[in-house]
Amino acid sequence: MNYTFQLKNIEEYKEAYQKSVTDPEVFWETIAREFRWMKPWDKGLNWRFEGEGAPVIEWFKGGKLNITENCLDRHLQTIPDQPALIWEPNNPDEHYRILTYRQLHQKVIAFANVLKNNGVKKGERVCIYMGMIPESPIAMLACARIGAIHSVIFGGFSAQSIADRIKDGNAKFVITCDGSFRAKKTIPLKSIVDDALVQCPSVERVIVLTRTRTPVSMIKGRDVWWEDELKKVETMGNPDCPAEEMDAEDPLFILYTSGSTGNPKGVVHTTAGYMIYTAYTFLNVFNYQPEEVFFCTADIGWITGHSYIVYGPLAVGATTLMFEGVPTYPDAGRFWEIIEKHKVNIFYTSPTAIRSLMAQGESFVENKDLSSLRVLGSVGEPINEEAWHLYYKNIGKSRCPIVDTWWQTENGGIMISTIATVTEHKPAFATLPLPGIQPAIMDPEGREITTPEAKGNLCIKFPWPGMLRTTWGDHQRCYDTYFSAYPGTYFTGDGCLRDANGYYRITGRVDDVLNVSGHRLGTAEIENVINKHTNVVESAVVGFPHPIKGQGIYAYIITEKEILQEDASLAIADIHETISRIIGPIAKPDKIQFVKDLPKTRSGKIMRRILRKIAEGEMNNIGDTSTLLNPEIVENIKKGKMN
Ligand code: PRX
Repeated sequence: MNYTFQLKNIEEYKEAYQKSVTDPEVFWETIAREFRWMKPWDKGLNWRFEGEGAPVIEWFKGGKLNITENCLDRHLQTIPDQPALIWEPNNPDEHYRILTYRQLHQKVIAFANVLKNNGVKKGERVCIYMGMIPESPIAMLACARIGAIHSVIFGGFSAQSIADRIKDGNAKFVITCDGSFRAKKTIPLKSIVDDALVQCPSVERVIVLTRTRTPVSMIKGRDVWWEDELKKVETMGNPDCPAEEMDAEDPLFILYTSGSTGNPKGVVHTTAGYMIYTAYTFLNVFNYQPEEVFFCTADIGWITGHSYIVYGPLAVGATTLMFEGVPTYPDAGRFWEIIEKHKVNIFYTSPTAIRSLMAQGESFVENKDLSSLRVLGSVGEPINEEAWHLYYKNIGKSRCPIVDTWWQTENGGIMISTIATVTEHKPAFATLPLPGIQPAIMDPEGREITTPEAKGNLCIKFPWPGMLRTTWGDHQRCYDTYFSAYPGTYFTGDGCLRDANGYYRITGRVDDVLNVSGHRLGTAEIENVINKHTNVVESAVVGFPHPIKGQGIYAYIITEKEILQEDASLAIADIHETISRIIGPIAKPDKIQFVKDLPKTRSGKIMRRILRKIAEGEMNNIGDTSTLLNPEIVENIKKGKMN
């Protein structure tokens, strides 16, 4: 497993970056040749960010390949007995599992045949709602093997969210489990799916894996057991499942994410570009060395799980470790125990996890041997300096570089980050763009700021292989969301600053998207749900700084009938219940304030700036309220602020 594109020092980084800017097509084509293709591509890159039908982004068009041949078959010749996947279960008395590349390959082939036997065809959408068990990546890879498009749904989403995603993707197939373990709880996944399916007559087949032995309803003709279906494949003599020939630009998966307006949108990633980009970024950012153990704590239902538990590591023949459960069960030493037990070399987690575990005191870390660690990573939200230093000292023992990796669901892979052992880290800075990434900072007039030091909105000027191609079923929405604000560039929705050395620091979203414990939520999405609740007239949701979660959710709600003091806590619990049912518990506000009115402009627009300031506790720094239709309400809201 030797890739010529692995960067070894700063000079190589500079050279690669230069090449990637002067001739991006040749740069990525050279890397692409190190993978397995069934047929070479016709053209390295076609692209257009503006004009009718835009965006057009095609990498390696005409090339034929299958990502599973690259993630599995290719390694059978070189490292068949190396662990591909290590899995740590939630329950302390259950044994961990290791799947070598040979075993993972066999399991993917067998389940791909199950999918085929159940009528799944190339191009069809398959929803996966399973939790953190090895069968999740197996199901994803089995879909990819036969050319089906997977749509993984995070285990914390509600039945309604599942139904919305099934309907949007018009999926006929669902793969789930009877339940999943989460600390001491059992989550009845199949039962949640059943609630979703009431609204989804399009679903023809549900494949259910046994995990928790939770009682489930199985509907004749629609629901089948994973284990029974596997037995059928065994009785067929375990036939091979040749990899489906896919075009480089055929969709690999859909992953839903929140924006500032409307319902979550299905971000579409395609086959070759995504594979090459995740492989390139994985190998380089983490400086992965053969046989090292890489532990990413993300959930497979988010892009980080897709790119850095499954596709990136497997594409370069790495050993990837996934865990089931929560970081605090059986105690707050869970991660450190896993690192010690499996001699993890590279550890990739979120600032929220670091903050919450560090808040439990050092005793959970002190007695663990973390000497195997070589590189630490951070993802999902800005890492504040305090958390950075705690991570560096307490976990990395002041000897492991921290890669603060900035990227988004839409990007496919890491965009701006320190490259371990190659470029320098700097607390709270994502630092430099990776080769192939051309950032631009825009001023309020939409012009690029070209001075070294700059502050503004972050855009990317040129396509990279891992970028989204469209939003499922609504290409116009893709254009409107990402390419219309700054014509000719991709707009990230993030604000940032650049220091004199050209290091980038991401300061957070500038649109109405919240980042709560690294989970991405749209304020409009939460408001729409609150507004559905009985007695609610109108609501406004904003973020506020939260010591552990990074951002918390603050909701201001106008009700039809006044909520009496003694009824307030029940009214809040009721609203939480509605949000849990429609989106999922992750979207529950941390604070709810019932208000008589919301500050509005004369044209009726809610002045969120003021609400944000109040939620942040900046009472004396509200700014100009003279343009408000109802300035008197501001004092009223200030008085009732929730602490
Ligand atoms: O605001 C940025 C923040 O997370 C957003 C993307 O969220 P999502 O699509 O869910 O993907 C998260 C995992 C890749 C970004 O717009 N974000 C992500 N990583 C960082 C970050 N903010 C600051 N620093 C980071 N390293």
